[in-house]
Amino acid sequence: MLFVYQPNNGQLVVFIWSLLTLVIDSTHSDQISQSYIVYYPNGTQYSPVNPAAQLLSTTTRNSLKLCAAACNQNRLCRIFDYDASALDQCRLFEGDIDTVGSIIAVPSQSRVGVVKIFAGVFSQHGLSCQTSCYETRYLTCSTNSTCECVPHTYWNTSTSICAPQLLVGGASCQQDRSMCREDFGYTCLPSNQCGYATIGSSTLTVTLQPNASVLYNTAGLSDGCTSIGTSSSTTASTQVTTEVVTSDITSDQTDQLPIDVTIAGYDNMTAGDDAMGLNAPRGIFVSSINQTFYVCDSNNFRVQRFHFGSRLGTTVAGGLGYPQRNIIMNRIWNVVVDSSEYVYVTDRNLNRLTKWPPNITVNVTQGTIASRGIGVWGVAFDQYNNMYTSLFDTHVIIRNNNTIVIGYYNQSGNSSTYLNYPRGIFFDKTSSSLFVCDSMNHRIQKFQLNSSVGVTVAGGNGAGSNPNQLNQPYFVWVSPKNGDMYIADTNNNRIQRWKMNDTQATTVAGTGTAGSLPTMLRSPVGVALNANETFLYVSDQGNNRVQRFELEG
Ligand SMILES: *[C@@H]1O[C@H](CO)[C@@H](O)[C@H](O)[C@H]1NC(C)=O
Ligand SMILES: *[C@@H]1O[C@H](CO)[C@@H](O)[C@H](O)[C@H]1NC(C)=O
Ligand SMILES: *[C@@H]1O[C@H](CO)[C@@H](O)[C@H](O)[C@H]1NC(C)=O
Ligand SMILES: *[C@@H]1O[C@H](CO)[C@@H](O)[C@H](O)[C@H]1NC(C)=O
Ligand SMILES: *[C@@H]1O[C@H](CO)[C@@H](O)[C@H](O)[C@H]1NC(C)=O
Ligand SMILES: *[C@@H]1O[C@H](CO)[C@@H](O)[C@H](O)[C@H]1NC(C)=O
Ligand SMILES: *[C@@H]1O[C@H](CO)[C@@H](O)[C@H](O)[C@H]1NC(C)=O
Ligand SMILES: *[C@@H]1O[C@H](CO)[C@@H](O)[C@H](O)[C@H]1NC(C)=O
Ligand SMILES: *[C@@H]1O[C@H](CO)[C@@H](O)[C@H](O)[C@H]1NC(C)=O
Ligand SMILES: *[C@@H]1O[C@H](CO)[C@@H](O)[C@H](O)[C@H]1NC(C)=O
Ligand SMILES: *[C@@H]1O[C@H](CO)[C@@H](O)[C@H](O)[C@H]1NC(C)=O
Ligand SMILES: *[C@@H]1O[C@H](CO)[C@@H](O)[C@H](O)[C@H]1NC(C)=O
Repeated sequence: MLFVYQPNNGQLVVFIWSLLTLVIDSTHSDQISQSYIVYYPNGTQYSPVNPAAQLLSTTTRNSLKLCAAACNQNRLCRIFDYDASALDQCRLFEGDIDTVGSIIAVPSQSRVGVVKIFAGVFSQHGLSCQTSCYETRYLTCSTNSTCECVPHTYWNTSTSICAPQLLVGGASCQQDRSMCREDFGYTCLPSNQCGYATIGSSTLTVTLQPNASVLYNTAGLSDGCTSIGTSSSTTASTQVTTEVVTSDITSDQTDQLPIDVTIAGYDNMTAGDDAMGLNAPRGIFVSSINQTFYVCDSNNFRVQRFHFGSRLGTTVAGGLGYPQRNIIMNRIWNVVVDSSEYVYVTDRNLNRLTKWPPNITVNVTQGTIASRGIGVWGVAFDQYNNMYTSLFDTHVIIRNNNTIVIGYYNQSGNSSTYLNYPRGIFFDKTSSSLFVCDSMNHRIQKFQLNSSVGVTVAGGNGAGSNPNQLNQPYFVWVSPKNGDMYIADTNNNRIQRWKMNDTQATTVAGTGTAGSLPTMLRSPVGVALNANETFLYVSDQGNNRVQRFELEG
């Protein structure tokens, strides 16, 4: 899915170019949602401390990159080694490289890679979910509907990461933290060490296994530099290279993807990547002239355009094949099209807004970068053509790529001048104000042009499903005629119409329960109306479809 390389020179060149742009990106701004792979030199092999608990698989791959891709696709894999001189052996391992096992020197062409995952990948930890955690495959939606660490990992409160559970007897742990590999019979003993509890005995002994030793010191890599310094052993000063990878593409949704009657996407409820198919459609934009609509076809890394009445889409942004596809576009959320048919696409993971010219030719065009920022999520334009972007991860609204106009950088809050994970934004020219989905405050904030003080115009009554509540709104579309707000109330699986000055809303689409009947929605994240406000368009993300509802007068 991620690093699938074609062994073809032309594509490799394209890839290197793409990587270069990414590296430039990463020096410009912290890649908090991304992870990278650290490659060790030829002649290295991983020696696990506890092979039974660590070895995930031994397979054959055609290249180091494909072995890296295999590791990246396995949510438990943190370490891999690949040996071209040993029948292309690719071994995947669990465990924290800093605490278990060693990287040893071997006389073959074996190479070790280590996956480094940033805290940004786990930003949804502890938040509520419906059936899956859309943000990452490294979290799972637990039975109590919160995003929790996947098995074999535990929540480390100081690093805000789901870290691999400890798999060595004697490793120090804290009580009630699930730090030890329970599937291996380890628990955190009263001595605060992982070990086997002896039933019926009060004296527990732990045999300490040898300390881990790492040939190459990985300290200081978290800033994404391309080389490391010290080595605790003989082979000092060898170059270690890192690559930024996208580790957290939504992936585990295939088990819950029904679909239904629809104006875009398959009727049979599966994801597809041909002209008809969609895979996790997100933001939607409807032309006010003729109802042509554009939708972020997120997991296909493209934006599709559908003319009124047609079920066949045309790609207007992204849509490249492997390996470039998710390097050009990664986690796209919203799309806006201007009157000259330029397409603007936000990309949370690549921390930027790209602008695509009309009528792109497949495989030759990349959008230009129109704005940057950590966690770009929403985009809107005012009547003076100022561009606004919401930065989900850093809680602010930026104007024209250079000025924070709402919120405080990287500080969330719930008063009138703060935001808490802003998502979709919409500029209503009639009232000259910007509407912001202040998602983790479960409210819509309205900001008059040039004001940074918001007024709550919908929700703000805590997360919930009562008519006066919202649960993580992802988008708001505002009627230029009467100011009615149409809100993608995503975690309630419904679209709410909230009239101006009202204290509560009515549901105009969806039932409040996730489902795939024509009347039901599953994590709807995009909403828009046609110009005369007769049709409501909803991108029904979890059902891989776009639904159109007819509105009554
Ligand atoms: C490392 O190994 C690869 C083959 O796996 C080989 O092509 C390359 O030349 C080697 N590099 C060095 C520096 O030995
Ligand atoms: C949900 O369950 C997990 C364990 O599966 C627990 O850690 C967490 O605190 C629970 N969350 C809530 C909101 O009850
Ligand atoms: C969290 O991770 C850090 C760094 O790996 C480690 O030092 C610490 O013991 C861990 N703490 C907890 C509570 O898990
Ligand atoms: C492991 O390392 C720690 C600190 O470096 C040391 O105190 C301890 O004795 C070592 N344990 C073993 C079994 O070598
Ligand atoms: C769903 O429909 C598409 C298009 O008609 C088809 O290509 C695909 O095979 C179908 N998938 C399933 C699982 O039926
Ligand atoms: C509808 O208008 C858009 C521009 O807003 C244009 O790109 C598209 O070609 C038009 N569709 C049709 C069917 O003419
Ligand atoms: C686009 O690139 C992909 C692989 O990168 C290739 O399979 C496809 O044929 C290309 N399409 C065109 C129109 O060149
Ligand atoms: C895009 O292509 C269509 C048909 O080829 C053409 O009618 C339209 O004018 C083009 N749009 C722009 C902005 O060039
Ligand atoms: C956006 O801002 C960044 C840094 O402030 C700058 O490097 C970039 O050129 C700007 N982009 C545009 C389109 O103005
Ligand atoms: C945001 O704040 C957190 C902790 O307060 C910090 O770890 C993180 O690096 C900051 N991110 C940015 C982009 O400044
Ligand atoms: C909403 O309230 C404002 C301020 O009180 C008022 O000017 C406006 O007319 C009201 N709009 C509606 C539709 O009630
Ligand atoms: C609204 O627009 C659609 C197409 O744009 C048209 O078919 C319909 O008749 C219009 N309805 C009204 C009430 O104007």
